[in-house]
Amino acid sequence: MRNNQAAAPPAIARGDFPPAFRWGTSTSSYQIEGAVQEGGRVESIWDRFCATPGAIRDGSSGTNACDHYRRWPRDLDLARDLGTNAYRFSIAWPRIWTPDGTPNVQGLDFYDRLVDGMLERGLEPWATLYHWDLPQPLQDAGGWAVRATVHAYTAYVDAVTRRLGDRVKHWITHNEPWCTAMHGHWDGVHAPGIRDFGMALQVCHHVLLSHGLAVPLIRANVPGAQAGIALSLHPVRSASASDDDVAAARRHDGLRNRWFLDPLAGRGYPADILAMLGGLAPRVAPSDLDVIAVPTDFMGLNYYFPETIAHVPGHWPLQAQVVTPSDVERTAFGWEVAPNGLTELLVRLHTEYGVPAIHVTENGSCYDDVVVDGAVHDTARQRYLVRHLAALRDALAQGVPVQGYFAWSLLDNFEWAEGYTRRFGLTHVDFATQQRLLKDSGQWYRAFLHHS
Ligand code: NOJ
Repeated sequence: MRNNQAAAPPAIARGDFPPAFRWGTSTSSYQIEGAVQEGGRVESIWDRFCATPGAIRDGSSGTNACDHYRRWPRDLDLARDLGTNAYRFSIAWPRIWTPDGTPNVQGLDFYDRLVDGMLERGLEPWATLYHWDLPQPLQDAGGWAVRATVHAYTAYVDAVTRRLGDRVKHWITHNEPWCTAMHGHWDGVHAPGIRDFGMALQVCHHVLLSHGLAVPLIRANVPGAQAGIALSLHPVRSASASDDDVAAARRHDGLRNRWFLDPLAGRGYPADILAMLGGLAPRVAPSDLDVIAVPTDFMGLNYYFPETIAHVPGHWPLQAQVVTPSDVERTAFGWEVAPNGLTELLVRLHTEYGVPAIHVTENGSCYDDVVVDGAVHDTARQRYLVRHLAALRDALAQGVPVQGYFAWSLLDNFEWAEGYTRRFGLTHVDFATQQRLLKDSGQWYRAFLHHS
């Protein structure tokens, strides 16, 4: 095996990291809140998508999820008890949106209480403004494929940052634009379930544009704001050393990673990929690329696994395809476990893109946990965590300005198209009783945070 499963995990201590390092956990609204009819919330694209037969592996939805909307005080206690000092959550736009454009006060009130709850527990709030739950009425009007949604988004950002900006200083405009655009509109495995590559590219452009417009707005409304975006990046490896595979891997990297990193860094969309896309390239208005290139205060990195790519002639659109190496360790989701990929990406963001501050806004693993005598012995998740923290320490040793780590996730939750079949939490959730139980991995994280 390339990533030796049997080797002892590295020794690691909190004291190996800078004293001001942020330690957190991460969640998102639709995955945990439930209460989809409460507080004036409107339908979201995920409510609608989940009702489509066959869309969700176990036929479930986020209707109840972790019932966090009601149980949040206890959930925030869990985050505090772990010893974390920051908490990443997302705001559900459908709780704020109303047909006449005035923000829904009940929705703002909910997040107001939630934020106060974090502050009372010593948790620095890190708010994600868009973690995939678009109000369905906006989808009915064209969704992210139309430019009007960009302006609806900035109005929403304006309302939320005005209300919470006295207490929330850290803002993430978007979570994983790749997934919003490509899973939502290319392979259609996420809401709104569309399959149109050209549209996906246009969506991607609008999402990036909305980010660029949101950043100055956040700064105007929030004294001392820190604004950034969270990207899901994958180290790309070529299936062999052949020139063809190496070139295919470069193309895949172009769409998967550079398509986002380059315009955000002011380099525009990568020319090699634009050339391959031809008429499918997004429509870009004259000042859009300048807007997208607004300097941010940090980059959020969501890291899970690397991708291995082979040259496959005729495989549309890049003549490149993901292959599955057989000799690697995997999680229950089938994702390769490769901690060195985290180091690699962090170093790349620093050296290739000169990113001034990076936060790992998500990293975690899915295993088939079982409760035995009131405990979850998730040794594999614990090893995953330890090894990725060691990889992060390696990046710090190479001079990369990483300033925080948010484990995905505080709780087992609704894993999108996989429903409740994939558990990522440091805390086990019994979805029938809503009982929470800290897994061994969570206990390890707590011990790590308390004693070093
Ligand atoms: C990325 C997403 O941001 C999050 O919502 C998801 O649950 C995790 N990855 C795990 O797939």
